[in-house]
Amino acid sequence: MIPSVMHAMCLMGHGGVEQLVYKSDVPVPTPNVDEVLVQVTATAKNNTDRKAREGLYPVGSSDEVTSFQMGGSPTLTFPRIQGADIVGRIIAVGHQVSSSRIGERGLLDFNLYPDHRPDLNLMPDYYGHGADGGYAEYVAVKAEQFYHIPNDELSDAELASMGMCSYQTAYHMLTAAKVVSGERVLVSGASGGVGTALIQLCRIIGAIPYAVSQLSKGEMLMKLGAEEVIDRGDLNTFVERTLAKTKGKPIDAVMDLVGGEMTDRFIDTMIQDMHQRKTYPRLSIAGASGGNISQMMWTKIYLYQVQIFGVSHGTQEEAAQLMKWIRGGQLKPVLHSAFKLSELHQAEAFFVSRNQQFLGKIVIVPDSQWDIHGKPYANPSQ
Ligand SMILES: NC(=O)c1ccc[n+]([C@@H]2O[C@H](COP(=O)([O-])OP(=O)(O)OC[C@H]3O[C@@H](n4cnc5c(N)ncnc54)[C@H](OP(=O)(O)O)[C@@H]3O)[C@@H](O)[C@H]2O)c1
Repeated sequence: MIPSVMHAMCLMGHGGVEQLVYKSDVPVPTPNVDEVLVQVTATAKNNTDRKAREGLYPVGSSDEVTSFQMGGSPTLTFPRIQGADIVGRIIAVGHQVSSSRIGERGLLDFNLYPDHRPDLNLMPDYYGHGADGGYAEYVAVKAEQFYHIPNDELSDAELASMGMCSYQTAYHMLTAAKVVSGERVLVSGASGGVGTALIQLCRIIGAIPYAVSQLSKGEMLMKLGAEEVIDRGDLNTFVERTLAKTKGKPIDAVMDLVGGEMTDRFIDTMIQDMHQRKTYPRLSIAGASGGNISQMMWTKIYLYQVQIFGVSHGTQEEAAQLMKWIRGGQLKPVLHSAFKLSELHQAEAFFVSRNQQFLGKIVIVPDSQWDIHGKPYANPSQ
């Protein structure tokens, strides 16, 4: 029996965590003809939850409190249920969807695609922003974007930690820069959701990932597949320390999630000796955890022909490929811990003040699913 109301964490407006209100009387959505109704068991947290809540997606002046707009209109309206990387089970289907899908355990491709072009996604909007997401007991999503992942070896929380917000973004960073087998790739923000995905994806395509992180996380990153770990601490010596790790060979492409003052140094690791290069220097940027503004000389960019790619999300083809790799066991979950949905405020606080050893993802589990799907991974602070 599907209930008529559910528990959900509703975002009531831009601002602090007080804007996240836990409610017990939110109507359970009815799936449209091409949708499925999913009983949520785990939803991974992403930086975008906080950024969208705080209105930190300015495209005009840096002090705007806003989220991005599509066609001149905001798609984030309130109240909104956030949470993009959703895992759960199908419990009802729309008229055009086969009822044989009921019972499937799956992972959502989180995009709100503007059209059906499989290799182009010009509108980086997503469930949890332009439509309700997974910080609830139930969610209605496009049937074709809810991928069946039967793998018994992956728990629901682990599967959520492999959500597309990180993995598809990471993959598109690599495809945008046309990274190929054998290339040396610098990965900044390497211990985060996107960074850990990048390290694994580099290995899958045969590229060699050099992780920029903190040395305290070095061992964990090497285990995940990093060739070497470069401490992000001293920027003055960053280029020489990186080239020491590559035995003097230039970095072929940079996957940047940090931005700020580091990006210019990252570019220097590619252009020290152009004689040694076989391809143009390439930098994909998908995040700016270290600052939204970077300073660099345009002469350096055009004389050394540095190609820069802005990356948001990825394409339907890329999501489908990632789901195949998950099913095939080539990608491994990097799950830190779980919080109850009713404790999302604590999860947010933990997320912004993570300790030196933090690696991977936080997942949020509805209280009604906690004992099975959350408790085994309970965050120690709970
Ligand atoms: N464009 C998109 O579609 C898209 C999608 C997902 C995420 N993002 C963005 O990509 C970035 C990374 O996302 P994520 O989910 O991987 O984040 P995350 O899990 O929070 O990891 C970010 C990592 O960046 C490093 N870092 C944080 N602050 C830093 C600073 N001030 N200077 C240098 N390094 C710093 C830390 O790694 P170390 O301790 O290892 O250095 C941290 O673990 C975020 O800015 C996020 O908003 C964008």
